[in-house]
Amino acid sequence: MRARRGLLYIPGDDLRKITKGTTLEVDCVCLDMEDGVAANRKAEARTVIQNALRDLDFGTGERLVRINAIGTGLEEKDLDAVLCAGPGVRPEGIVLPKAESAAQIRHISERMAFAEARYGWEPGGIRILVLIETALGIVEMRSILTADSRLEAVIFGAEDLAGSIGMIRTKGCLELLYARSALVTHAAAFGLQALDMVHTDFRDLEGLRAACLEGASLGFSGKQLVHPGQVGPAQEAFTPSEEAIAEAERLVDAFEVQQRGGRGAFDFGGTMVDMPILRTARGVLERARAAGRVTGAAR
Ligand code: COA
Ligand code: MG
Repeated sequence: MRARRGLLYIPGDDLRKITKGTTLEVDCVCLDMEDGVAANRKAEARTVIQNALRDLDFGTGERLVRINAIGTGLEEKDLDAVLCAGPGVRPEGIVLPKAESAAQIRHISERMAFAEARYGWEPGGIRILVLIETALGIVEMRSILTADSRLEAVIFGAEDLAGSIGMIRTKGCLELLYARSALVTHAAAFGLQALDMVHTDFRDLEGLRAACLEGASLGFSGKQLVHPGQVGPAQEAFTPSEEAIAEAERLVDAFEVQQRGGRGAFDFGGTMVDMPILRTARGVLERARAAGRVTGAAR
């Protein structure tokens, strides 16, 4: 799975910002049709995004599009704009906000499958990322996250969730702890990446770094971003350290030796290692590779 340390939202109706997005070395560029776009600019956003996907080169950055939530009445036109505009307009993934049921995920997946068959794109190639940001989304997380194999990442939406539950937001974010922990736990259980909340005070880079480390300690592997200045500090914070990389490399090597010897679980310097821990180690190496930190043979 590709690294998604930083996911930068760019308002879909703002071509200047989208063009700027092509110059930023951010893992994911998320062209937004939802809350970053005013209600009377939705049609404009669809057109601008369509043209951007066709004409602009985002380099290695993943081209994502955030559609409006299912049930808003906007979502089908949003999907049409990026899945029915011809073979030259192809997002790499779609971000579904306010996800609340497995049926919603399956619906989007079916629409993607149709487009893939129609335009000769790789079957199953377009990814789905879901935002969990409502009370119902939290309690339905298990069925949502296991709905479809296109799903690769789950994203935590703090401000919408606070509104949905009636939380009073505080600086310490204690009110969000249950939801954040539930989210990373479900993500880990189903082999998905977890992306943390936006640091809305976008000029406060010290606060951003602290928030990234807090998110990483909870189990998040990346963060949603809203400003170019956030990209460097956030992606650095979510890049594994040299020690973590060395440990992961040793673990992967040891695992291969043990597997060949017919052992699925083994003693690794006093800790038990088996398949899920191998996956975590591979995740560390994947993130490191994306940051240019692993030079050895492809693992
Ligand atoms: N993506 C790409 N470029 C961006 C950007 C973004 N999210 N936010 C700002 N920029 C660009 C600006 O256009 C400007 O470029 P320029 O120098 O070529 O003019 C440069 O970065 C500096 O921007 P700055 O002046 O510091 O900020 P701003 O006042 O233009 O914008 C926000 C501030 C918060 C409005 C803007 O960052 C933004 O729209 N963020 C995304 C909001 C969003 O999508 N929210 C929904 C998801 S939570
Ligand atoms: Mg939201």
